[in-house]
Amino acid sequence: MPESVVDTVTEVPVAVVGAGPAGLMLAHLLGRAGVEAVAVDLRTREEIAATHRAGILEAGAARDLVETGVSDRVLREGHEHEGTELRFGGRPHRIDFRALVGASVWLYPQTEVFVDLADARERDGGAVHFGVRDTEVLDVDTAAPRVRYTAADGTRHEIRARYVVGADGSRGTCRNLVPERLRTRYGTEYPFAWFGVLAQAPASAPELVYAHSAHGFALISRRTADVQRMYFQCDPHERTEDWSDERIWETLQARVAGEDGFRLVEGPVLERAVLRFRSFVQEPMRWGSLLLAGDAAHTVPPTGARGLNLALHDVKVLAAVLLRALGPEGEPALADYQPQALRRVWRAQHFSSWMTRLLHNTPDATPFDHHRQLGELDTLVNTRAGRTYLAEQYTGWPTP
Ligand code: DHB
Repeated sequence: MPESVVDTVTEVPVAVVGAGPAGLMLAHLLGRAGVEAVAVDLRTREEIAATHRAGILEAGAARDLVETGVSDRVLREGHEHEGTELRFGGRPHRIDFRALVGASVWLYPQTEVFVDLADARERDGGAVHFGVRDTEVLDVDTAAPRVRYTAADGTRHEIRARYVVGADGSRGTCRNLVPERLRTRYGTEYPFAWFGVLAQAPASAPELVYAHSAHGFALISRRTADVQRMYFQCDPHERTEDWSDERIWETLQARVAGEDGFRLVEGPVLERAVLRFRSFVQEPMRWGSLLLAGDAAHTVPPTGARGLNLALHDVKVLAAVLLRALGPEGEPALADYQPQALRRVWRAQHFSSWMTRLLHNTPDATPFDHHRQLGELDTLVNTRAGRTYLAEQYTGWPTP
């Protein structure tokens, strides 16, 4: 089929498919080094900003947002958390990140990270095209790849680049451009999902609460002084229509109940959604002129909030590698991307699936499984090695 005629052709060193946090942070890091990157996304800016995702940033990721000049809003509007609570056997157990490993995390939702990055791109004159359609990524097996798309106003455009970065998320198509015979996909599914709610209520606890109970897992997080974010484990086929505010609160209260009399402060449920998840990795992360970053290459279950942090780490490594590849060193520099990024990816894969299995119950769990989990939780919070392990994994690892 002959290619359609386009209205404009733009030539830039890097084209980025996906303008979520990974794609925009990459474009920002390249832009600061004087390398232009154009990003496109099927979603509108408003749609992305309204998509609720995880809420925890590693201190290192928060620092990168500030130090690379994205914004210092995280320091002004985010909340530093120096520990977290694990609840099990009806009792609270605090993990003190600061005392154990000298680190902290920031409660700063992914939507805010996106808003900061989109504002920074606009401020710095970086091209980001939201709300495009019919995106085609072509010729990634050559040194002259292209991205074609229809803009929101119906006009057709082509971006000619030296490299294309696929940062189009866990449901994106860039990963499928790596030929089937050359790629390996690793992964596992879980027999449960998260029921996520936003509730209009004051906070119930000063820090996040990860709760293990005979009824299943619950996570109590926060958003603002009067809006809270909470999740509870549910069947992946659960329908939100079947959940009244009353049923939601009853479920959450049962999962955090204990001998200390702890109760959540209730209020109207503003939003509800069933969030399915899995563990997934695709290799290679680079093929020809295509590089995959963030959820486009790997996804983790949400327990422990690694996903966004991992995506930001990928693009930090990738920006440095791309700058070398576009300079005198040339293409051989790209060989450093996958080994540096994947090491952290597999650590996070382990941590996220471990924390998920530690706290959730499977539909076929026996009393043995339940008590074995309690034995593990006991070892975790009542040994220094256990607490330190959790604190170290949760707050992130330094970039090697
Ligand atoms: C949040 C989500 C997570 O998956 C997590 O582990 C901690 C916090 C949140 O949305 O606030």
